[in-house]
Amino acid sequence: MNKKTIRDIDLKGKKVFVRCDFNVPMGENQNITDNTRIVAALPTIKYLLEQNCKIILASHLGRPKGEFKKEFSLGPVAKELSRLLGKEVIMAKDVIGEDATKKASELKEGEILLLENVRFHKEETENDPEFSKKLASMAEIYVNDAFGTAHRAHSSTTGIASYLPAVSGFLIEKELKFLGNAIENPERPFIAILGGAKVSDKIGVIDSLLEKVDTLMIGGGMAYTFFKAQGYEVGNSICELDKLDLARNLMEKAKQKNVKLMLPVDTNVGKEFKEDTESKIVKWTEIPEGWEGFDIGPETIKLFTEELQKAKTVVWNGPLGLFEFPQFAVGTNSIAKVLADLDATTIIGGGDSASAVKKAGLEDKMTHISTGGGASLEFLEGKKLPGIECLLDK
Ligand code: 3PG
Repeated sequence: MNKKTIRDIDLKGKKVFVRCDFNVPMGENQNITDNTRIVAALPTIKYLLEQNCKIILASHLGRPKGEFKKEFSLGPVAKELSRLLGKEVIMAKDVIGEDATKKASELKEGEILLLENVRFHKEETENDPEFSKKLASMAEIYVNDAFGTAHRAHSSTTGIASYLPAVSGFLIEKELKFLGNAIENPERPFIAILGGAKVSDKIGVIDSLLEKVDTLMIGGGMAYTFFKAQGYEVGNSICELDKLDLARNLMEKAKQKNVKLMLPVDTNVGKEFKEDTESKIVKWTEIPEGWEGFDIGPETIKLFTEELQKAKTVVWNGPLGLFEFPQFAVGTNSIAKVLADLDATTIIGGGDSASAVKKAGLEDKMTHISTGGGASLEFLEGKKLPGIECLLDK
């Protein structure tokens, strides 16, 4: 990485503003249902504690749209972080208000303060310079460790870097190492698996990966747009009619680039969008009217598996079916198991594919699971991430 990290500057005893991505899923009673992103922030926080820093942590949670809303409070995150660190995490009642500024100014070496949700101010997502300046005025150094939010140019991810020396934390460094190596220096054969509902969400990443991979596998809802683009009926399956030309262009590009493009050859279709709906396996060219494709079929799993067994690097983004419903999770789970047993570098993009791998209990078997959904996708597309661009060069 060509950006400075916390290892590259003297932090001893300094007051440090650390942007984390504590945007974690919450259950009904504001109980955290997956603490992965909090755990992922620990190495940086522990290092700053070793350097006797005064640590101010900031994050967003959800999209409260510029207003205080209790259900978006970071209170539960402070508790969880404190449990994980075995140390008090002081919670501020606001972000730049009286409580936060007082607690920040009184912070002692080795103490940790967590500000309230930065998105309680609309200025955060507007990347308002005055708001960025107020955040910056609390500290001496800015550390960005929010990989999951690095694709957003907001005050606490990017704006603040105009007012303080800005470096990355260990999580961003690690994410860039794994995702960057996979893209720049992949051991071959290099296979990408892309799933998810819509082609429109993945155009950029398909286009960019066609320049890099040996094989591209497509599953999930977006496969049906590719079927339709070849003139076949898809029943009630999700299909973007305005993206048919685009799908044809991508297939053509794969041919030109000599990339093996693998689409499903069979699919598990259901009668209705219901967990226990009647279902059956059909060929990709024979989806019956009134039925909806929800998963890749067994023949596809077999063909994908045989191809994956040759891979040395695999990048996977997006589930291959409606994995929230057990009868349509077979494709996603089977491919996750194949990846778990491969003697290859396996990188899982964040978001739904990461949840699917965790749900299958296979997270320890993958080389790297990204904490960023949108951010990892944009990185794989080759886009510059503003939260990283704004950091000091090495
Ligand atoms: C995420 O969960 O992808 C990040 O935390 C970014 O959240 P956002 O899409 O609301 O900006």
